[in-house]
Amino acid sequence: MEVVIRQHEQQCGVTAADIVADAVLSGATTLGLATGSSPLSVYRALIRRHRQGGLSFAAAQAFLLDEYVGLPPSHPQSYAHVIRAEFTDHVDIDSERVHSPNGVADDIFVAAREYDALIADVGPVDVQLLGIGGNGHIGFNEPGSSLGSRTRVKTLTEQTRHDNARFFSGVDEVPRHVITQGLGTICDARHLVLIATGSHKAEAVAAAVEGPLTASCPASVLQLHPHVTVVVDDAAAAHLKNADFYRYALKYKPAQQKY
Ligand code: F6R
Repeated sequence: MEVVIRQHEQQCGVTAADIVADAVLSGATTLGLATGSSPLSVYRALIRRHRQGGLSFAAAQAFLLDEYVGLPPSHPQSYAHVIRAEFTDHVDIDSERVHSPNGVADDIFVAAREYDALIADVGPVDVQLLGIGGNGHIGFNEPGSSLGSRTRVKTLTEQTRHDNARFFSGVDEVPRHVITQGLGTICDARHLVLIATGSHKAEAVAAAVEGPLTASCPASVLQLHPHVTVVVDDAAAAHLKNADFYRYALKYKPAQQKY
């Protein structure tokens, strides 16, 4: 696991965007996208690079991590809508190839299994962007999630509903259920890039990177993955015991990755 500590959120966004851009320029075609606040600086940097020329997503397809149950893609807070507004509508990716779980399917349990099967069929995801919840969730795999889980319906904790209430008119509007890629599904991606900024993420980041491998901190499953980059700002790195070591560590240079 490589931990990159940058001073500010915007620098974290540029670092993570460079990783995604390098992968795309090396032939990566399958992107895993996260929503929420954490990846916004990444998307802004990618849009900038696309507009400057030379970075095209025309050959790419994308998979979202998760979706709220009950929100159609037309709802402004559905993740299918958010990813269009924040990223995919601003680059040249084919919107038909931006996939998300169907949170309004007649049978959401079947929809979850079908989404998992689709990723397995046309994947693997080459680069997966991740944020982290204050309670250590990735995707919406809340504490207690099986470390080998597949895409399925999950119930949000009250903490997560309160954390996400800022996007809605109040906590009561935040759906209780979601379809989320499982931890096993996420770990099928070839390169995981987690971005976390702000002091409210410091405890979860330390638990994920340096704590025990445990379902109580779902993000700790990243410790089992062969290629993870954690990009954090100073505030989110504040509880890392080995922060100095990460700052001086040689940057990981994989053998030319073939996509
Ligand atoms: C969103 C997702 C979640 C968020 C996490 C952090 O697609 O999967 O895991 O990444 O809840 O949210 P923010 O970035 O809003 O703090």
